[in-house]
Amino acid sequence: MSSQAKPLLRALAGETLRVPPVWLMRQAGRYLPEYRATREKAGSFLDLCYTPELAAEVTMQPIRRFGFDGAILFADILLVPQGLGADLTFVPGEGPRLSTVATAEEVAALRPAEAIHDTVAPVYETVRILSQTLPPEVALIGFAGAPWTVATYMIAGRGTPNQEPARRMLLEQPDAFFTLLDLITEATIEYLARQVEAGAEAVKLFDSWAGSLSALDFERVCLEPNRRITAELKSRFPGLPVIAFPRGAGAWLERFADSCGADCVAIDQHVPTRWAAERLQPHVCVQGNLDPLLMVAGGEPLAAAARRIREDLSGGPHVFNLGHGITPDADPENVHILLDAIRG
Ligand code: CP3
Repeated sequence: MSSQAKPLLRALAGETLRVPPVWLMRQAGRYLPEYRATREKAGSFLDLCYTPELAAEVTMQPIRRFGFDGAILFADILLVPQGLGADLTFVPGEGPRLSTVATAEEVAALRPAEAIHDTVAPVYETVRILSQTLPPEVALIGFAGAPWTVATYMIAGRGTPNQEPARRMLLEQPDAFFTLLDLITEATIEYLARQVEAGAEAVKLFDSWAGSLSALDFERVCLEPNRRITAELKSRFPGLPVIAFPRGAGAWLERFADSCGADCVAIDQHVPTRWAAERLQPHVCVQGNLDPLLMVAGGEPLAAAARRIREDLSGGPHVFNLGHGITPDADPENVHILLDAIRG
């Protein structure tokens, strides 16, 4: 099968397909017993990310079980900060902990962008294994966090409710903040370029906290770095499909879709799909946007919502996905209900 026959790549190239390709954010994760078993075997979450054979194995698990159209590399957005010199640990049940970057001196003490390869090289090996293992109809998606979202974790040293430490640094120490944002942007370009060289067929930028930026800061802090990464990757790899996910961007979405340069914009579950069909699909392929809670609830509400999203976005290029990651309490059986509703 030629790569252009892969349904996911066709949709990302702007084709309107009768049945949209499907994959799920966090499709490899704790809701799957086989993931929990491999995670146990690896020891820690970071050991799992940095052991290519095991990371490739957990990437493959949801492909084998469900037959998704896309496989997303198993890694984490916080590996880039680690490569830049942040101490990183994952506390089970609590999430990530990093050494904080709160001053111009601490920004200056980080490693240069190219230095990340020393730390993250195993991720490229995972991509190489996957590109040789995946079934021919499944597309391999590489990813990174978008600079603002990565910065929120580096500045606060953990996940925070409103990303307040990062927003304060933006307001109070703009020079240090933008030096950090530029460094992350450069590191992200190098990181994704290596993933593509290793075999990733599309890349996704996760700007999970775009929604906490004020409207006045959105262009410079969210849109501009997404645009710069997209433009640089496309100049190095002409035709590379890019998916951007400015979660919570709200009224900024249309301009984002029109000017970021990404081929596909992923939308969260708060965006009305008919609005997305009218205002976003003329510019880009739209990915999304089922409420992840429906993967816990299941039943007819899940099937009905999936059919409705598919129908609303059927007039243009669409990749079916959730509005955010599938949660550990989701029932794997509900994935079959979802796939029947979309493909059946
Ligand atoms: O299947 C996939 O989607 C690929 C793998 C993937 C993971 N994280 C694995 C993971 C991807 C694409 C990510 C992205 C990621 N990581 C984001 C952006 C997307 C989003 O969800 O908003 C963010 C913000 C992170 C940072 C991160 N990683 C946090 C805040 C946490 C802890 C919260 C949690 O869910 O436990 C993680 C850990 C993490 N990353 C897990 C997985 C499967 C769970 C860790 C475990 O197994 O113990």
